[in-house]
Parts: sequence; structure tokens; C-alpha cells
Amino acid sequence: MKNIFILTPFPNMVQAVVKESILGRSEEKGIVKFYIKNLFKYADPPHFRIDDYPFGGGSGMILKPEPIFRAYDEIFKKLNKKTSTKVVFPTPDGYLLDHKKASELSLCDNLIFINGHYKGIDQRIRDNIVTDEISIGDYVLTGGELPALIILDSAIRLIPGVLNNFESAQTDSFSECLLDCPYYTRPENFREMLTPRVLSSGDHKKIKNWKQKQRENKTQNRRPDLWEKYKSIV
Ligand code: 6GU
Repeated sequence: MKNIFILTPFPNMVQAVVKESILGRSEEKGIVKFYIKNLFKYADPPHFRIDDYPFGGGSGMILKPEPIFRAYDEIFKKLNKKTSTKVVFPTPDGYLLDHKKASELSLCDNLIFINGHYKGIDQRIRDNIVTDEISIGDYVLTGGELPALIILDSAIRLIPGVLNNFESAQTDSFSECLLDCPYYTRPENFREMLTPRVLSSGDHKKIKNWKQKQRENKTQNRRPDLWEKYKSIV
């Protein structure tokens, strides 16, 4: 069982996503358990502020250390010390998310996500609690909730039993440095648009070759970076 803790000022946003579809079903199946923690509940009364102005000036607000350390301490106390834990901070200045990182996270017993929704978070949180600073790409979003959910989703789908057909997670794009091939289903002729004949030929060797060629062509055209990597390993 994987325990997934998400510290956020916007619990409803996270709740709405993790209770639906495959993530929701993986919790119903008992494969993961989500603990969504409202950061405001860990702030100091009477104002329950979780952010403050940056020392040294500058625009934007910074997430204060106290609520996060408090929430983290509470979670950490209850964790079995023999289990593995990673603390993820989604941030545009983190390491880029890829299949390898998703796979690494999927092997952890406990994951703790810290979501900032401000200019930044106090560096002491990053220095003392966070184990993985992860970016989801070279663009900036308004907050950490969506990236956290993306990182989470990419990891959870790799846990055996989450997808109905685990094989389908192993053949898709990136697991072998190649983008995925096109897929078709019935009808064979839809408004004069025909499906590739080879796919209905029953010739498994031909089909396999066709799929491989499609993957290679697509990767070469769209992702020269991946193509170079692929050529270096095969
Ligand atoms: Cl992890 N957070 C935000 N706010 N923006 C991003 C990102 C993360 N990764 C790319 N852009």
C-alpha cells in the first residue's frame, strides 16, 4: 500500500481529481491511500496566515515554514520508519519529470507532496524536508496543484494493479525511448477513411514491423532528442 500525502492550500482542487477515474479506483482497490492536508489547518491563530513577504524585497508571497514543518512532522511521526519516503516539491526550477523519475516515485512506500501556490516557499523547507524538486516542463503554471497531480498520476499508473492491463503501461510512449504508434478500431471504413490494411491482415510479424516503423518515424520527426537516445541504446 502506498500512502500519498498532499499538503495544499486548495484541498478541494486535489480531492476532485484523486477521487475520479483510475486514481479514484486505485484507492478503492486499496493500492493507494490519499491523505489531503489543508495547509491552513496547520497555520497559527488568530490569522492562520500561510504566506508572508519575502525578506530582501521582491514581488510575490512566500509560503511560511511553520505550517509545512508542522504538517510534515505530524505525517512523519506516524510513518513506519522501515518504509521508504520521498518528499516532492513541484517547482518550475526543479529537475524535469521523466519516465525514470515517475518509475522511481512509483517504487516508494510513502509520497509527500508539498504544493506552493505563491511566488515560492521558504528555502529552509526545501533544504530540510524536500527530497525531490520536480518541474513538469519549460512553462510556468499558477500553482503546484496541477503539476503535483501530473507527477502523481505518472507514478501511480506504474504501480502493478492500477491499470487493468499492466502491459499497456510498459509499451506506451517513453518506456523504450520511442513514441507510441497510431491505433485504429472498427469500422474499417468510416466515411471513406480506411484503416491500414496490414492491421487486419492477421500477419503478426508484419503488424509488429509496421508498428515499430510507425514509432520510429514519429519519434524521428517529433523528438530528435529522443531519437538520438534511442539510436544510442539499440
Ligand atoms: Cl512543478 N510548478 C509550476 N507552478 N509551474 C511549473 C511547474 C511546476 N513545472 C513547470 N511549470
